[in-house]
Amino acid sequence: MGLLEVKNLRLSYGTVQGIVPAVDGVSFTIEAGETLGIVGESGAGKSSLASALMRTMPRNVVNYTGIIEFEGSNCLELSDEAFRKQIRWQRMSMVFQGAMDSLNPVIKVGKQVAEPLLLKPGIKPKQAYATAQQLLKMVMLSPEVFHRYPHELSGGMKQRVMIAMALIFNPKLILIDEPTSALDVIIQAQIMNLLKRFKREFKLSILFITHDLALASDLCDSIAIMYAGEIIEMGSAEEMLLEPKHPYSQKLLVSIPRLAEDTRPEFIVGAPPDMTALPPGCYFQPRCHCVFERCLHEHPPSFKLPSGRLVKCWLYGDQR
Ligand SMILES: Nc1ncnc2c1ncn2[C@@H]1O[C@H](COP(=O)(O)OP(=O)(O)OP(=O)(O)O)[C@@H](O)[C@H]1O
Ligand SMILES: [Mg+2]
Repeated sequence: MGLLEVKNLRLSYGTVQGIVPAVDGVSFTIEAGETLGIVGESGAGKSSLASALMRTMPRNVVNYTGIIEFEGSNCLELSDEAFRKQIRWQRMSMVFQGAMDSLNPVIKVGKQVAEPLLLKPGIKPKQAYATAQQLLKMVMLSPEVFHRYPHELSGGMKQRVMIAMALIFNPKLILIDEPTSALDVIIQAQIMNLLKRFKREFKLSILFITHDLALASDLCDSIAIMYAGEIIEMGSAEEMLLEPKHPYSQKLLVSIPRLAEDTRPEFIVGAPPDMTALPPGCYFQPRCHCVFERCLHEHPPSFKLPSGRLVKCWLYGDQR
């Protein structure tokens, strides 16, 4: 059994324009020590998926169903209190998208990292601060960072602090939402190396969210491509990079600029669909270069290929 098993997860928001099915029947498994990349364009539902797993959804959620089985507990059946006490931050934690800008400006970094431990009954402040120091060291920050204020840190340093905070209770799984998109490439590489080390040395399981397929394939064992709330393709990172099957994944791959080759990156024509008025049939059909009759009317299920790859596309159906 996997560490995290997600089956048919759905999360919709109510808006004045209508219902937004941000997570639309998503299923996947993360084994202990495994890293899964969730890749997709802006608005695909990546952050919504993470907030559904962490139960940190906004108030306008109108539908939240499916199965989230984490270390054998069915999370959707747990009360909010039980989930908070047993799972969130303790065993499954998260680095939220853009959260490095939400560090409290008037509290020193060390105290902010130690805070969740300081609030735990039975843990002495000295112990909490020692753990915070250790965590800062683990994310390769110098000890004096403990006494600094957030504005005295660079973006890359703040992101390391966020990762340290997510590790405070020594979780089994960490969800990381776009940790490097605001950072330059050198700092981005340093953060990626840090995550690779955690994966290698501590066998930490990671759900890594990004819009960058190349970045995901560098860290992840498997990759799931999200489009309009659905996982449209999932497989091993290597296979996904070498031979994407879904027309959308193929377009994502050729949109990556390559220095060594004499080819120009292609762009994906059109824009992601309006989530309150999804097209009939396959959600990608208006932009698809392989579209045929069936795609216009029938929504494709996930087809399992002999290699184990899952593809939600009629090209891989029994009969076209
Ligand atoms: N609180 C909300 N209320 C209504 N709609 C929302 C809310 N949050 C997100 N959405 C919508 O849900 C869809 C998925 O959004 P989400 O933020 O999960 O995408 P994302 O893949 O994380 O995008 P990005 O790469 O820009 O972070 C989008 O259509 C978005 O507009
Ligand atoms: Mg997001």
